[in-house]
Amino acid sequence: MAATTQISTRHLLGIKDLTPHDIHLIFETADQFLDVINRPIKKVPSLRDITIVNLFFENSTRTRISFELAEKRLSADVLNFSASASSVTKGETLLDTVNNILAMKVDMVVMRHPAPGAPYFLANRINANIVNAGDGTHEHPTQALLDAFSIRRKLGDVVGKKVCIFGDITHSRVALSNIYCLQKLGAKVRVCGPPTLIPKYIDTLGVEVSHDVRDSLNWCDVANILRIQLERQDIKFFPSMREYSQYFGINKKLVDSLDKEIVIMHPGPINRGVEITSDVADSKHSIILDQVENGVAVRMAVLYLLAARK
Ligand code: CP
Repeated sequence: MAATTQISTRHLLGIKDLTPHDIHLIFETADQFLDVINRPIKKVPSLRDITIVNLFFENSTRTRISFELAEKRLSADVLNFSASASSVTKGETLLDTVNNILAMKVDMVVMRHPAPGAPYFLANRINANIVNAGDGTHEHPTQALLDAFSIRRKLGDVVGKKVCIFGDITHSRVALSNIYCLQKLGAKVRVCGPPTLIPKYIDTLGVEVSHDVRDSLNWCDVANILRIQLERQDIKFFPSMREYSQYFGINKKLVDSLDKEIVIMHPGPINRGVEITSDVADSKHSIILDQVENGVAVRMAVLYLLAARK
């Protein structure tokens, strides 16, 4: 239960900076916004005088639309910026870009950037709330929050639950943010994938490491399955997609062979037939689309709580 109604930070740069109280407060606020977005009138006036810019320097479907919808449901004024259609292509720096946008009286910045640490760089230099919507291979805090929120909605609580993150851990910002978030909430976390896609330092984060998919599926209550981040790989980390799918893909035969039911999650985008087969992604065990729905409520909660800190 959250004791106070204020989040401890001005920005959401990473889950590493949040306290367990912050996370519980976000969840309790998101519970209320989930009710709001399921009503016939899905809008509240909470951020009526706030202007938010969504700065996307990398492609996105879910995060970008989810933030925009969350902002509109809260009645904020919303600006969308796409790097490829901006003066960044003429050589303008990140700081100049953001300072010029803020000069137009913008209050909050939601940013996705390929450089790890880019939102931290900005947070030390500008006077606006910043929300990290994914910074390179570093963190994706709102994804981890919506993942843990979805586990809590499905299983009642996160504490004590066994969550295994499968796939490309090395190149995934979702993995790192999930590890921090789940541990702060008292879950047990394991990572499972080929040795080449699991960082050598990972055990210093207090997670279990496995390369055995069947054993890990039997161990966990929740399987969070990540895609291979080919766009971040400049060398080959496994011989072929076919072999990856054969040895590390999650398929119906594997899931049906377990002596218990597990929850299947995936942050998207899915590479069907590679890390997960369609009959698992679309099965009754899957809460993948619930994650997407919950993401809007969680992002509404984050924006609302940060705006209150302004
Ligand atoms: N899960 C996620 O970050 O998806 P997008 O890249 O489509 O935003």
